[in-house]
Amino acid sequence: MPVVGTSMPRKDALDKLRGVAKYIDDYSFSDILHVVTVRSQHAYGRLIKIDKSAAEKMPGVVGVITAEQVPGKNAVPLVFDDEPFLAEGYVRFHGEPVALVVAETLEQAQEAAGHVRVEIEPLKPVLGIREAIAPDAPRIYKDDNIFSRYNVCKGNAEEAMKKAVHIFEQEYETPYQEHAYLETNGVIAVPGLEDSMTVYGSMQCPFYVHDAVAAAAGIDRNKARVVQTTTGGGFGGKEDFPSVVAGQATIVAKLFNRPAKLIYKREEDIIASSKRHPGLIKMKVGTDERGKIVAALIDYYVDGGAYSTLTPIVLWRGTVHALGPYECENIHVRSYGVATNKVPCGAYRGFGSPQVIFAGESMIDEIAVALKVDPLEIRRLNGYKLGSKTATGQVLDQSCGLMETIDKARERSQWAAKWQDPADRKGNVRRGVGISSVYYGVGLGAGGKHLDRVGTSMTIMKDGSVHCAIGNVEMGQGARTVLAQIAADALGAPFDLVNVVETDTNMVPDSGPTVASRTTFMSGNSLMLAAAELRPRLLQVAADMLGAASPAEVELIDGQAFLIKDPKGQKIGFKELAAKLYAYRLMPSAFGWFIAPDSSYDKETGQGNAYFVYSYCTNIAEVEVDMETGEFKVIRITSAHDMGKAINPQQVEGQIEGGTLQGLGYATMEEIRHDANGRMLNNAFATYILPTTEDTPEIDPIIVEHPYDRGPYGAKGFGEVPLMGVAPAISNAIYNATGVRIRRLPIKPEKILGLED
Ligand code: MTE
Ligand code: MOS
Repeated sequence: MPVVGTSMPRKDALDKLRGVAKYIDDYSFSDILHVVTVRSQHAYGRLIKIDKSAAEKMPGVVGVITAEQVPGKNAVPLVFDDEPFLAEGYVRFHGEPVALVVAETLEQAQEAAGHVRVEIEPLKPVLGIREAIAPDAPRIYKDDNIFSRYNVCKGNAEEAMKKAVHIFEQEYETPYQEHAYLETNGVIAVPGLEDSMTVYGSMQCPFYVHDAVAAAAGIDRNKARVVQTTTGGGFGGKEDFPSVVAGQATIVAKLFNRPAKLIYKREEDIIASSKRHPGLIKMKVGTDERGKIVAALIDYYVDGGAYSTLTPIVLWRGTVHALGPYECENIHVRSYGVATNKVPCGAYRGFGSPQVIFAGESMIDEIAVALKVDPLEIRRLNGYKLGSKTATGQVLDQSCGLMETIDKARERSQWAAKWQDPADRKGNVRRGVGISSVYYGVGLGAGGKHLDRVGTSMTIMKDGSVHCAIGNVEMGQGARTVLAQIAADALGAPFDLVNVVETDTNMVPDSGPTVASRTTFMSGNSLMLAAAELRPRLLQVAADMLGAASPAEVELIDGQAFLIKDPKGQKIGFKELAAKLYAYRLMPSAFGWFIAPDSSYDKETGQGNAYFVYSYCTNIAEVEVDMETGEFKVIRITSAHDMGKAINPQQVEGQIEGGTLQGLGYATMEEIRHDANGRMLNNAFATYILPTTEDTPEIDPIIVEHPYDRGPYGAKGFGEVPLMGVAPAISNAIYNATGVRIRRLPIKPEKILGLED
């Protein structure tokens, strides 16, 4: 039986459950050094002097490293390369790495870190979007505090707005979100012979880390090697940040020619690593009398923090997706990545779109309420169907399951029975339902298309087991299992014999990042290409063994080869085939190299085929609110997804459950607070409140399959989508229960009672 489409057990489950999986902190090397980071205690300032003398005399300390000692280039390679590994001249956020204390033990390094004297002349920091874009704002980045800006312009939104029957205008704000992966950032850098450097660590983009290791050590890439260790969650937070940690460990390993271990404590991970960008969205939408959108003007700002890091890429995705999955002939989106003196923000599941989704899905709900239309029907009216045109003018010519996600979610959530005008709801405890619809471009899209390729190296071993080295990582999302299913079916091998291993930059060329829900589609396709090369060799061997005249007469499924005309006759097992393959001296390896289908983007207008394909989702949330106290509970979330094809339905459901809970946290509790000097106040799990199992609502996952013809077995990719539309669905449900509209996340009882904005 083929395994694609069935819920095969996870390859990594048992080791993780038993607690024997090894995370980076579980590793050691002889002669290892321990590294602790000294951080800026100011949000902005001139770096006057770093006095290392006291720290250097402390027991066990072998050195204190500062910027001028970086052997290679003191810049984290990413997009604009403006972030240093160690601060130089200025510090630009509270918590920025200033020095590295290196000692024989972790305790000694920690002890000594308190004795490094950092003298900073404080400057007035810029701490928020509105502050940074004010005309009289201090200039902290170039002459306008803007890292990057984009434009999506179709038709004439200003003119069309004048003709609209109804016009709606609102501002929405979204907060930071901390990834809260179970495993904090950490790496070990191990120097080798002839100037080489190997870095092991927790990460989702080994090839970005590879760039950082080569840059920090000042060595060629063929001397740098990065091996991903079992990674306890990434969620986008380990896209850019491991490059910082790995670069720093590399610097130490290089300078002392000894292995160097740098593992973050939770508190410093929260202070210093990337977060979801806070967003400010100004929306003006014009409709006809029925609520069909005819014009949209959207200004989207994100708080990028002190360095540009991934802001340009995150912003581009949000710009393209700004209106959500709705037809509109006249749209103008302008977006700005804003510099502030706070931690640099980066990728987090959804990548710049949950912010605009909250705005757009709240707005369309507000339109429905004002025009007295069922919020679900207004989405059916405006939503993308096969043949619709996106904001960038792209025609959705296949695999567009949005309407089916709406219809399935409606049915399963009993929307019709539950939705009611809030004015008609009575009593102190009230229920309400809310809906959101989402689309999501799979892969890096036109903005990052030069990186959208993936390699696979596949080898059939002598014993019939199959080894697949891939360019994307497993970080908990189930990639190793799902890809093994694809490889097994494509090759005709039994699932149990296929091993997809963690990424090692020595085994595959730079395959881009593991982000943007691209793994199933991209690595899946590259595995299929490799399998397509190996399979004819297996069939040739099988034909010989079965006495067939040609390989065309042979079938190979699930590890069994047989004559097509005699399916009940002689069978040859995969192990026998493999042994013969070697005896025949046929090449047992193949390399798959997959390039993403084309996408395009016009710099001036933002028009083009922004992404090669989109996934779709509809969430319906049901909430219960105590009108007296404002306390509320999310009772149920129905979550319907079109991901093309569910390669492993159980993994799909797992992604929906996990993503939904993260979305619930974003909607209702997560928030980072700073004091007036830009110091983060809640950098611990005791104060940064996350949803737990106690807060988990009933989650009803629904799989909708509209296959994509370029996808492996029709799959698109959807790992991020489950989080993305949860916040507006809950917020719209709160409105439906109470008549109170929340335009600034997170939703809190105080806001429902009108005691807080
Ligand atoms: N699921 C788990 N368990 N752990 C993770 O770190 N990351 C999410 C999502 N689901 C993540 C996860 C993010 S941000 C992305 S981009 C996708 O998985 C990446 O995986 P995929 O390409 O296989 O969909
Ligand atoms: Mo996911 S935010 O694209 O790593």
